[in-house]
Amino acid sequence: MNKYYPTVDWISGFLRELTGRRYCYLVGNGTTALSLAIRSLGFSGQPVALPNNVCYNVPLAVYFSGNFPVYLDVDARTMGVDVSTLAHMPAALIAVHAYGNPCDMQMIQNVCAKGGVPLIEDCAAALGATISGKSVGKTGVFSVFSFGHGKIVSAGHGGALLFDEPAIERNIKDQVEGLPSLSESMLQKLGNLSMTHTQIYNRYVGQDLSEAGAIFRPLALSVRSSMEFRFDSSRVESIARSLAELDQNLNERRQRYAGLSETLAELPDLEVCPLTAGAVPWRLSVLVSKERGKPFRNDILNFFLERKIPVSSWFPPVSNFLETAKEPFCKTPIAAAIGDHILNFWVDNQVGPGYAAQIAGGIQKVISLRAES
Ligand SMILES: Cc1ncc(COP(=O)(O)O)c(C=O)c1O
Repeated sequence: MNKYYPTVDWISGFLRELTGRRYCYLVGNGTTALSLAIRSLGFSGQPVALPNNVCYNVPLAVYFSGNFPVYLDVDARTMGVDVSTLAHMPAALIAVHAYGNPCDMQMIQNVCAKGGVPLIEDCAAALGATISGKSVGKTGVFSVFSFGHGKIVSAGHGGALLFDEPAIERNIKDQVEGLPSLSESMLQKLGNLSMTHTQIYNRYVGQDLSEAGAIFRPLALSVRSSMEFRFDSSRVESIARSLAELDQNLNERRQRYAGLSETLAELPDLEVCPLTAGAVPWRLSVLVSKERGKPFRNDILNFFLERKIPVSSWFPPVSNFLETAKEPFCKTPIAAAIGDHILNFWVDNQVGPGYAAQIAGGIQKVISLRAES
């Protein structure tokens, strides 16, 4: 393990050195980092574009900044935002390195530069990923990292906002200093939101998710004062230690990924989504074949969830959770197809050496149960 100091300055210095950015401010979570970034750009009531296969925190950060999200489709290879689907230039664009895969930042940056659109690079799920050998997080006006639950460095919560422009620093510093501290009641509200999201998803997973927004959106928009908070200093030790161990963490993930990938390659009707160059294995994602379709995916998902074995089908199009029938529903066919066919398996240290066999055995069982019925 590399030497580390359990201080905010050491963590900020680590991230600045990793990305080559000039400034780094730690905040309570990645959502806060995103909303502060957008707010500091100085507009409100404007469209902010983002890919549609992300967690709800990303569009919520846009709403919290006083703006509204525009959902774009994604590139099937990188699963990152497909800027060719932009119908109009937004006021800002958030490029997300989804599933640990770096998206095509060169192309995205070119489009943003041409349209005069400020770019925010969301590295929440891709700490350690590289583009042409250099860490993600150095492009655009801002970059954002998260140390929240389930991230590459998972410390419960924590986020970082990085940028280069000295003229922005005063504004960011003031906003960071004005953030409230995390309280028990805020945590409870966030837990409640996450539980509601899971319940809605579980209720609608086999059906049409378009009813979900009417229930989820009002609750989600009401939690702003609980979701934006300052860095929680009780996380310093855990984040600093995990950053010092990042290389080891990534190597272990790669080993688990390779073992699981080999096991799954022997099963029919599943295609492992290849990691793109410079990716970090956040999860191992597979797509079930189009012929088998969503019911097969859902059977596998439910089989494991009923047995409390970690697996997910993230991310269904997030617009389903935040748009209501009042607006025209957006159309992002690739994000929708990924949402219908994807399964994500764990490659972090939450799973032990028997996980790959458990997954393969479970999928075979689902296949035989389906053949019998
Ligand atoms: C791509 C992406 N961006 C931002 C966030 C928000 O991070 P946090 O959970 O720390 O608020 C997440 C979290 O789930 C995420 O996956």
